[in-house]
Amino acid sequence: MCSLMLCLVASAKQVVIETAHLSLVLDATEGKAPAYVYFGSKLSANELNHIQIPVEGRMDAYPAYGLNCPAEPALAIRHADGNLSTVLTVKGVNSAVEGNGTVTRIHLLDPVYQTTVDLCYKSVNDVDMIEVWTEISNGEKNTIHLTRFASAMLPIRRGDVWASHLYGSWANEARLVEEPLNQGILEVRNNDGTRNSHTDHAEMMFSLDGKAQENSGDVIGAALCYSGNYQLRIVTDDTEYHYFFAGIREANSEYHLRKGEKFVTPHLALTFSKEGLSGVSRNFHKWGRKYMLAHGDKERKILLNSWEGVYFDINQQGMDQMMGDIASMGGELFVMDDGWFGDKYPRKDDSSSLGDWVVDRNKLPEGIEGLIRDAKKHGIKFGIWIEPEMTNTVSELYEKHPDWVVKAPNRDVVTGRGGTQLVLDLANPAVQDYCFKIVDDLMTKYPDIDYIKWDANMDIRNHGSQYLSMDNQSHLYIAYHQGFAKLCDRIRAKYPDLTIQACASGGGRANWGVLPWFDEFWVSDNTDALQRIYMQWGTSYFFPAIAMASHISATPNHTVFRTTSLKYRIDVAMSGRLGMEIQPKNMTEAEKTLCRNAIAEYKQIRPIVQFGDIYRLLSPYDRKGAASMMYVAENKSKAVFYWWKTESFQNEHLPRVKMAGLNSEKMYRIHELNRVDLKPLSFEGQSFSGAYLMNHGLDLPYRNEVEYSQKNDWSSRVLLLEAEN
Ligand code: DGJ
Repeated sequence: MCSLMLCLVASAKQVVIETAHLSLVLDATEGKAPAYVYFGSKLSANELNHIQIPVEGRMDAYPAYGLNCPAEPALAIRHADGNLSTVLTVKGVNSAVEGNGTVTRIHLLDPVYQTTVDLCYKSVNDVDMIEVWTEISNGEKNTIHLTRFASAMLPIRRGDVWASHLYGSWANEARLVEEPLNQGILEVRNNDGTRNSHTDHAEMMFSLDGKAQENSGDVIGAALCYSGNYQLRIVTDDTEYHYFFAGIREANSEYHLRKGEKFVTPHLALTFSKEGLSGVSRNFHKWGRKYMLAHGDKERKILLNSWEGVYFDINQQGMDQMMGDIASMGGELFVMDDGWFGDKYPRKDDSSSLGDWVVDRNKLPEGIEGLIRDAKKHGIKFGIWIEPEMTNTVSELYEKHPDWVVKAPNRDVVTGRGGTQLVLDLANPAVQDYCFKIVDDLMTKYPDIDYIKWDANMDIRNHGSQYLSMDNQSHLYIAYHQGFAKLCDRIRAKYPDLTIQACASGGGRANWGVLPWFDEFWVSDNTDALQRIYMQWGTSYFFPAIAMASHISATPNHTVFRTTSLKYRIDVAMSGRLGMEIQPKNMTEAEKTLCRNAIAEYKQIRPIVQFGDIYRLLSPYDRKGAASMMYVAENKSKAVFYWWKTESFQNEHLPRVKMAGLNSEKMYRIHELNRVDLKPLSFEGQSFSGAYLMNHGLDLPYRNEVEYSQKNDWSSRVLLLEAEN
């Protein structure tokens, strides 16, 4: 039943950190190193009394480098006098209610040096999450140097443990990888500098009973809440355990902690479920919606974003037309993307103007006020794109402040997008002020702006801060994100109601370190429905649908050039936060009608999608020809079921999908949404018990039966289930 076990020490001081369904048990005997005892489902008082300690394994809760050098450390310090060794022993434990949870602090002290380390554990009771982090305080006479500073280490009992994590690249974000843990090191890391979820993700799940199952089996979930470079590392050597370390990536980031200063690591959120991968996802989603995501309890508006519709070709009339079109289809918000700004250097493409946040009056003679007026005329809200952290060599900002960009000392700048893009140095408080002013000016002048799409299209390519001293150049990556956090805090303090999307060349900012300031993220610049099934599947492991912007776009798709049916694109987009990314002017009336109907139907299911519990049923990664998942309302009175064919072959045999998460006793009436078939499904309007749907499932026809001229090789279904009793 437990995922971690070791034995009791006779005079041990047992520290129990609990949530509604979880226990994390540590040994914190004074004068000794703190040790892990247990992490898994909640233990009874009796069980707590009888926990057994295994003899194998290094259970030190926060191993420090120096007296057992071959073992992987969580912490390594070069002390003020140059000593590389650290010893941490328990000095005391205290517990207090802080915010939404109870924080237990195990205070550790090096008996020789005055540096102290607090291991902090916050139990967020109602959502079964335990956040773990470390606070390192320099009590020595001089600066100490941190060369390792993981947020946490967790030992995981060996056996047949599998890791599930996400990797990818631009336009192919959040691909799921599942692999058994073997001897050696599995390292997932990010060096992007500004964003951190394109190539890999800072979250992981560990299935303890062999290859991961969606709806059964013991699974640990871990998410590092940090917006910058990170490192997840699983070290497996000659003991009975895998050692999971998570934290800021220390490479080129040695941290110099001055006398009296404290370094606080990012939180690592840990959870556990006996209901498989989907069970862990539900925990992350609940915690995320309730405590992490901005406005996680508010339904999201259905929007049209201008990017794929017009790219940089912004103009007053065009925006008005798009607003009219989305309003006529039932949308609630229009977002004007890149291309609206620049005076001396108007933004015609991606090679200029970032930083010059003034309206291009040639494109928009009536300015933003004119656009807001038009939005009001159409009865919708207005949103706008900005990229505050960046500039271009071709910009008035760069001409004025070449000293504000990230640049290696004594070297030329290294440019990114458009051959001219540069990253502003957020370590510099003047840059933080300037970025705050971008938002503040917009919101002061145009308080009716409802939504900001905050983009970040460049990584840190050359290591250097023109603000930090030469001694502290290694602080750049960390100082950038400390600056980012200060900036976002200021924005949220003044504009708590604003909706803000985290976009970063697509899905570069899908991370729990960013989301407390943001309402949602753009999953990917790739809007192809088929590839989105894979990306959204992976994303859903750690992030709820309410945060996952998912838009209907044109075909052939602008990234992969695949042509899918509009019904299929709608059915995929409707499994996230629905929006559109298309030029409606180019749509036929029939296509607009289909979208109008889909938007109306999405409004019906929006609370289930955005606040419901996820159950993933048939994985696209299993290559069975189809993928399927569902959301179930918390009280199980309603559910939405999705089924998408992922391959199309004649006379193929697809698995019947069994549903999950329903109430077996209740009778659910089935109604197909976004119906295009000439005839209703054979079970349309009929009722089945939850037990039948979960034990047997429905037989779905493999194709949508439409007029001959409309036939295509894409099939999908969205079913609404409503309980009758
Ligand atoms: C990258 C984003 O991911 C796109 O959606 C779009 O906003 C462009 N940037 C604009 O330059």
